This record gives sequence, C-alpha cells and structure tokens, in this order.
Amino acid sequence: MFAIVLVGGFGTRLRPLTEHVPKQMLPICGIPMIELVVGHLADHGVEKVGLAMGYRPDAFLEAYPNGYIAETPYEVAVESEPLGTAGAIRFAVEQFQPKETFLVLNGDVLTDLDVRALVEFHHEVQAEVTIALQPVDDPSSFGVVTTDTRGRVEAFIEKPEKGSVPSHNINAGTYVLEPSAVEQIPQGRPVSVERETFPELAASGTLYALPSATYWLDTGTPQQFIQANLDMLNGKRKQVPHLPEAVIDPTSLITQSVIGSGSEVGVGAIIDKSVVLDRCQIGANSEVLGSILSEDVRVGQGARLDGCVIGQGQHIEPGEILINQTRPELNPT
Ligand code: GTP
Repeated sequence: MFAIVLVGGFGTRLRPLTEHVPKQMLPICGIPMIELVVGHLADHGVEKVGLAMGYRPDAFLEAYPNGYIAETPYEVAVESEPLGTAGAIRFAVEQFQPKETFLVLNGDVLTDLDVRALVEFHHEVQAEVTIALQPVDDPSSFGVVTTDTRGRVEAFIEKPEKGSVPSHNINAGTYVLEPSAVEQIPQGRPVSVERETFPELAASGTLYALPSATYWLDTGTPQQFIQANLDMLNGKRKQVPHLPEAVIDPTSLITQSVIGSGSEVGVGAIIDKSVVLDRCQIGANSEVLGSILSEDVRVGQGARLDGCVIGQGQHIEPGEILINQTRPELNPT
C-alpha cells in the first residue's frame, strides 16, 4: 500500500525549534519523528511513502539521501508555496498517481493505530474517504466528528467552541482515500482538508470514520513534544530510546527528562520534565523545568528556566531566571 505523509507545515507553534528544521525532523528520544511515523506504516504493510513537502525539504533529503526512511522507499512532492492540507494531497496525488486505495497522514502524529483495520473498514462500507477517530478529553482544538451507527460521518466541525462540542471523537490525522476523492479538491489554491474537504464530503454522505482508543499524540505544541519524548522514555511506545552518551555529573538530579547526545550537565543541576537536545551545556546548580532546549544551548551557573523553549545556540546568563519564555535561535541558518 502507498501512503502520503504531509510534512510541509511551518510548525509555528513549535518555534523556535522549527526555525531550522521541519517539525517531523525533530528527535523523539533521539529518533527523528518522521522515522517513527514511517516505521509504524511499514509495520502495517505500507511499502512506499510519498512525502508532501514544502517547508525546508532539504532537511529530509540531506538526512535520507539514499531514498529510504525506516527501511521504506520514499519519494517527494515539493510545493513551491504551501497548498494547505488538502491542496498538498491533490498536488502529491498528481505527482505520485496512486491507482488504488491509499493512505494520507499528518506527519506530526504519533500513534499505534491499527492501520490495516482502518483500511478493511473503509472497503467494507465502500467509503470514498475514511478518517481514523480518537477520543480525547478536550476536543475543542481539533476537528470533531459525529457519525451514524454504520460510521457514516454526519458532521465534521473544525475547532468547535468550548461548550458546544457535539462529540469527543476527533480527527486523528490518518485517512484512507480512493483516488477519485481527490478530484473534488480545487486546484491551484490553498485548501484545508479539515475546513473544506471533509465538511463537504460529510454533506455528500461519502465520508466515513472509525474510532479507536489506542496510543495517539499530536506533537504540535511544546507540551506535546515533551510528552512524546516522555512517553517513549517511559516505555509507552514500542520503540526504544536512542540516546547516545551525555556527560552527567553524579550530583545533578535528572527526572523525567531526555538529555541529548554530547550534552553536559553540571554539579547540582536539576532537570525535570524537559527535553535537552544535543551538545547543550547545563551549568552548575541551574534548574531546567518543563522546558525544551534546542541544540548547542548554554545555561549559565545558577540560572533557572521554567516552561521555556530556547532556540539553537542561545546562551542563558548565570543566575538568569526565565519563566514561560521563548528565545529565538542565536544564529539562524
Ligand atoms: P502549526 O504552524 O504549528 O499549526 O503547524 P503545521 O502547520 O506545521 O502543522 P498542522 O498541525 O497545522 O498540520 C498538520 C500536518 O500537515 C503537519 O504534518 C504539517 O506538516 C502538514 N501541513 C500543514 N500545512 C501543509 C501544507 O501546506 N503543505 C504540506 N505539504 N503539508 C502541510
């Protein structure tokens, strides 16, 4: 089976981490997110993927120059300007020309979804498009879906107001499509699958959806990115963390955190619920709490970071206290 993975977004909510790489190239416990996404598809019978790219396509091509990601062959479709999620699907389909049922995925979702079961359901009900659904506590920042008893979508409402949420099942970002469904997506302008295509298909009665309560995480915000790392660290995923050596002083206290390769943690430093990427230096007696440090960040002695996202190459002065702040990259590339 063929799968198109959408990886062309700017990842604005994860800035400054995404100032120099696309979101899907950020590491989860040392493994680039795209490898986790493609590896999961390969485990479920996907033989080839097409990456629908826009922002920083070079990052993928440089990391995987031999045409394989997670031992799976890949091709690319590169938009000259962002076409939105549906526009990107249409653009990629024109290039890849799938002749049979295929998959489309948001490239920033980590899940253990049974993709084969979703495809089987899609064929059983003879849908044109089938969406995987996920139950969540607060659906207000997602596309909320209601279905009839056979799974036919009655309503698809993107980001409903809190209090007017008709269901707790949300669009989980994995879709099964027939090639014919793509012809209905307008060409040559940005189109959102969530705001235009799915509501239209729902109105025409050809959109189906299947809920499943499995591991599922949208990694789009700093809190979710930390969560993705901690879930792998805590063994909630089948993949094993890939964290080469960091130099950690035995008097430091590191809890629920991921420390990247080549990073150094000084005497008495405290790190909790944080992700520290490669080659960072965490000074003596400093505190890093609920924060993300991009590569090559230096935290001065006695500094304190709480709820911060710090861009590549930044220096935090000794004794500096930063709460809920972001700092851009020091030397943007
Ligand atoms: P934010 O800017 O933080 O909202 O992130 P995003 O736009 O990168 O991601 P969002 O969650 O909104 O999009 C879902 C998926 O679609 C992600 O995997 C994005 O990379 C991808 N995506 C979003 N817009 C486009 C686009 O115009 N073209 C392509 N090819 N992919 C897109």
